[in-house]
Amino acid sequence: MRKAFITGINGQDGSTLARLLLNKGYEVHGIVRRNSIPEHQELRIDDLTNEIKTYYGDLEHSSAISRLLREIQPDEIYHLAAQSHVRISFEIPLYTANTNAMGTLNMLEAYRLECPQARFYQASSSEMFGTGIDADSCQRETTTMLPTSPYGCAKLFAYHIVRNYRKAYKLFASNGILFNHESALRGSNFVTGKVVKGAVMIKLGMLSHLEMGNMDSHRDWGHSRDYVRAMHMILNHSEPDEFVVATGVTRSVRDMCDFVFSQLGLNYQDYIRINPKFFRPEELPFLKGDATKIRTVLGWQPEISFEEMMIEMIEYWMNKLKKS
Ligand code: NAP
Ligand code: GDD
Repeated sequence: MRKAFITGINGQDGSTLARLLLNKGYEVHGIVRRNSIPEHQELRIDDLTNEIKTYYGDLEHSSAISRLLREIQPDEIYHLAAQSHVRISFEIPLYTANTNAMGTLNMLEAYRLECPQARFYQASSSEMFGTGIDADSCQRETTTMLPTSPYGCAKLFAYHIVRNYRKAYKLFASNGILFNHESALRGSNFVTGKVVKGAVMIKLGMLSHLEMGNMDSHRDWGHSRDYVRAMHMILNHSEPDEFVVATGVTRSVRDMCDFVFSQLGLNYQDYIRINPKFFRPEELPFLKGDATKIRTVLGWQPEISFEEMMIEMIEYWMNKLKKS
């Protein structure tokens, strides 16, 4: 039985990946922070408690991580834990850098010293591209990376140190450069989760309006289930490498709002107010990924459309809020 070790196992992707790996017959281990938000733990992994093995752990506590990797001896390490909110990274940049950059280095050192035969996946991000964009308006593995947030800068350090460790120590360490991906398990302070939850609350008479930031930025949104499948394929490739994971379709935040409110029979313009609080000091205005490499080399392709994903999220919040 293959063993997987997941950091961030109670996050959107960690919990979705745990389900995928359990279905594939893996023994799944993961760390959860002692002070983690209880709502997230219950929501995302409580139904898995008899199937996965969780331990208290924090990326900052390198000795505890080392001990766990020594004892477990995983075949595959999925390093997904991070302070993952871009706007919040402007409010707590040092914390974000410690967690996302130094935390990754802590993980790599523990991996190199305790279980170098394992394979290591790093949750790299399209936020690393920032304003870098190719002439055809796409971002791909070769696009210049010019991050526009403390989050993006910290992730770029992590991306490079993973490459450095791969080459320096001959480790199987890969970067998945994932564009935005969502699901019903998405935190409700990310834009899709916020808009779906807010629109459903308006529909149910629980909220009068929704305050938003930049409606004109564009994102390439895919589904978390498709993207954790890509993570597994990346680690099971014959060699370590970098792969962009994206749908290749981009939409504005405004268009996403229009779709969600329309599904509920509402006009988004009647309910959305702009609040400067939700703007970022520097914005990443446009993301559109070219996933040709992973499509051709690994045969990955997304299976869930944007519309199916948003409807799944609406149904989830409608059922949840109707019961409350
Ligand atoms: P998420 O839902 O915010 O999950 C992040 C996880 O990291 C949570 O379980 C969180 O635990 C944990 N964590 C945070 N700080 C930690 C620390 N110091 N020690 C241990 N665990 C810690 O994020 P996600 O959407 O699943 O994303 C997974 C990874 O992919 C992240 O690294 C993110 O930056 C990256 N990524 C995400 C996307 C996307 O669109 N979703 C795209 C590209 C890359 P708590 O519950 O305790 O906070
Ligand atoms: N969160 C949020 N809240 N975003 C808003 C709002 C709002 O009220 N109003 C407009 N936006 C815009 C943001 O300015 C941004 O341009 C876009 O919506 C998407 O914001 P988020 O959903 O917070 O995601 P993100 O793109 O900043 O970051 C996500 O994707 C990255 C990959 O590109 C996160 O999942 C990161 O962890 C991930 O690396």
